[in-house]
Amino acid sequence: MVRLRRDRYRTFEEFENLAAKRIPSSLFREVSTGKGRGITARRNIEAFDEITFRVRAGVGWPGKRELATTVLGKEISMPVLIGPVGGLRLMHPDGAAGAARAASAAGTICTISTTCGHSPDEVADASAGPLWQQIYMLHGRDGAQKLIDAAQRRGFHALVLTVDPTAPQINTVLRITPKNIIQYGPELVRRPKWLAGFIKDGFQFASVNQMIEKQTLIPTPLQVTWEDFAWIRTIWNGPLVAKGILRPEDARRAVDAGADAIVVSNHGGMVLDGLPPTIRCLPSIIDEIGGEVEVLLDGGVRQGVDIVKAIALGARAVLIGRPYIMGLCADGTRGVSAVLESLRTEIDQALVTLGSRSIHDLDPTYVDVPSTWATPARLT
Ligand SMILES: Cc1cc2nc3c(=O)[nH]c(=O)nc-3n(C[C@H](O)[C@H](O)[C@H](O)COP(=O)(O)O)c2cc1C
Repeated sequence: MVRLRRDRYRTFEEFENLAAKRIPSSLFREVSTGKGRGITARRNIEAFDEITFRVRAGVGWPGKRELATTVLGKEISMPVLIGPVGGLRLMHPDGAAGAARAASAAGTICTISTTCGHSPDEVADASAGPLWQQIYMLHGRDGAQKLIDAAQRRGFHALVLTVDPTAPQINTVLRITPKNIIQYGPELVRRPKWLAGFIKDGFQFASVNQMIEKQTLIPTPLQVTWEDFAWIRTIWNGPLVAKGILRPEDARRAVDAGADAIVVSNHGGMVLDGLPPTIRCLPSIIDEIGGEVEVLLDGGVRQGVDIVKAIALGARAVLIGRPYIMGLCADGTRGVSAVLESLRTEIDQALVTLGSRSIHDLDPTYVDVPSTWATPARLT
């Protein structure tokens, strides 16, 4: 198995290839493709490619670059956060605890999913860095309350409520379950190192946090309503983030319900094929609420230039899903660190080439978006 060094630069495709060689092929397909024909997941990526830079010639060497920023008052060393992903422990025994360790080492925030496979306590024990807890309404308000209590007790910085309709997906993200593992036998034996790790970790099929996993897996309803959102606002003292916003009207609703930040997200194309690419949704949402709360984005971020484009269009920072999933699959905590450092290198190089000293100098004048995209007033 490869041991990834965090200081060795690799592209997303290289991490992806390493991951494909390490985990069972069905699992790899599930995490990489997205729902249906994977069109939403693919278009998230392609939409970034449609944006081009307005590069300034002859501006000279920008000197030392500034990548650090704050998100909801927390300082981070670059505008990249680890996003919430369910079932991480099935991908590698290091799971969310490893992702949190890597995020902490990189000086950024790790968001853990309600269904990541490690409890908030386990993740907090593993990492001294800033943590966000993502919430689904598993087991209704009682289940949410338990998770929120744990997050509060362990000093999590923020709660992230996923408000996109997710329910049908969770059961199918990871098709390898205790009931059907036999049918995957042939591909599992082709991945002996993955299998050995999985066995050593005690067959951690559970994608639900330890603290609630003893109850039945995934009852419905799973998703958060605005009423739940308002209720959580009353019991959680820290910053509250609404994840899964694609329309300005919903962004406004989130702000009205007490959100301190929103994440423009289509769940990485995991829930519905046919949703718009997130970067395309960003400008109109910035127009609506950008002056009031911080706007984050995820979906399709694969390289540093994507991050620079998102920041130029008004995002405070981005969250990543598959990039770090691939690093984790390839080599656990080390792999996630390597992904984060490669992205840092790419952001830095993009700034140099743009002649920009700081991510804080970026604005819409640095990019051209296709004329076929609806052009919000602030870009004209
Ligand atoms: C395998 C997988 C599992 C996910 N699980 C969750 C989850 O439990 N909660 C959540 O809010 N988002 C979840 N997401 C969505 C991510 O948080 C994020 O929105 C998405 O991965 C970003 O797109 P990207 O993968 O193109 O970076 C998941 C995504 C993937 C690929």
